[in-house]
Amino acid sequence: MGDSSLRFVRDGYLFGTRGFRAAGSDRFRTRLLGRPVLVMRGADSARFFYEGGRFSRAGAMPRSVLKVLQDVGSVQSLEGDAHRRRKELFIGLLSGPSGEALVDRFREELRRAVADSGGAEVVMLDLFHDVLTRAVTAWAGLPESVSADLRRSGVLAQMVEAAGMVGPGNWAVRWRRSAAERMLAETVVQERATPAAPDGSALAVVAAYTEPDESGRSGSAEEAPLPPEVAAVELLNLLRPTVAIGRYLTFAALALHRHPGWRDDLAAGDDIGVRWFAQEVRRFYPFFPVIGGRATRDLEWQGERVRTGDWVLLDLYGTTHDPAIWEQPDRFLPQRFDGLIVEPNTLIPQGGGGMHADHRCPGEPVTIDLLEEGIRMLTRELQYEVPEQDLRVSLRTFPARPESGFVVKGLRETQRAAA
Ligand code: HEM
Repeated sequence: MGDSSLRFVRDGYLFGTRGFRAAGSDRFRTRLLGRPVLVMRGADSARFFYEGGRFSRAGAMPRSVLKVLQDVGSVQSLEGDAHRRRKELFIGLLSGPSGEALVDRFREELRRAVADSGGAEVVMLDLFHDVLTRAVTAWAGLPESVSADLRRSGVLAQMVEAAGMVGPGNWAVRWRRSAAERMLAETVVQERATPAAPDGSALAVVAAYTEPDESGRSGSAEEAPLPPEVAAVELLNLLRPTVAIGRYLTFAALALHRHPGWRDDLAAGDDIGVRWFAQEVRRFYPFFPVIGGRATRDLEWQGERVRTGDWVLLDLYGTTHDPAIWEQPDRFLPQRFDGLIVEPNTLIPQGGGGMHADHRCPGEPVTIDLLEEGIRMLTRELQYEVPEQDLRVSLRTFPARPESGFVVKGLRETQRAAA
């Protein structure tokens, strides 16, 4: 079996799709970076991969990706009861009134950024990253000096960019990430000594959170707070992916530009259309190409044998473009969601399975809410012109983006919104 690493680089997001076509199947085996791997797509594969704790994330992603996106002791590295318990911490912070508060912050910060832009030319991807950084650090209850540091370094947006890099670019961001982790760990220590963060904020909740102490130091029955460096990793797991939503917002702006009929309908108040549009942005535009896992036990599934430790890749992009699930998958058609009951293992840009028991993204509901809010604001409250620029989205570059970052001119509130 030949090694497909070069083809992975060459085909990018289409690596899986081309492999499935060549194999005439939703699964194929190959080697990547010298290791044998089973690549799969589709709703059944997503169910198999995500549900029932069959695959762990340990050793399943290249170090260059892991080091900037996840880290030691994070919720993603846990399994079983320990995972379920920690997961509730995220779900609690990201849903209900706490999730709504994040959307409110975003709206305020976007309005402020538009006013501050003074109608100058802006790159929307950068603007959204900045707005989301301001919104999420304030929402999290971080001290202003810490928020300012994170804004200045730009590390929250850079971590996602760097996941697609190897070598010096990646190392520089890892270094900045380590500095941010140290700063956040110190912030947690201070918060524990002298609580200052608003009640219910991410900093207050993460700092006060306890779990059964499995270190053996105090016996298994006792609860212990997270070690400060793990608390810092989990704070980053709230901050970084929220800023990453800037990519979806930029893709939404691009889609509105490409589909002026939809722009007009949504501007006129079509609220259900806003939901379909947001879902189609998440389905259609590329974000995470694949997720890797290693089998936690020997498995037999649809004639496929997977042994403990075997490496499997679930093709997220390939599943959101799987012709067996989606009609005309390569066309942007928000109306496909009209009357559609979305099966949880089909629309999986943020992972499959269930949010509580499996590794499905706990930020999915708030991502949808933020995206809908952004779409409403772009169509109903804001005006801008879109000059000539390179708006192509390469499927070879991870993470994907419109080449220009989506430049607009004369960004301002509409007269109605200003009134
Ligand atoms: C741009 C939007 C987002 C995308 C594309 C995305 C994507 C994903 C994916 C694919 C997974 C599954 C990983 C796996 O199977 O191992 C995941 C998990 C996760 N996401 Fe998101 N995410 C987004 C937004 C968010 C937000 C807003 C938050 C928090 C504020 C968040 C926090 C997490 C966490 C903590 C996990 C690990 C969950 C676990 O292991 O149980 N994500 N995300």
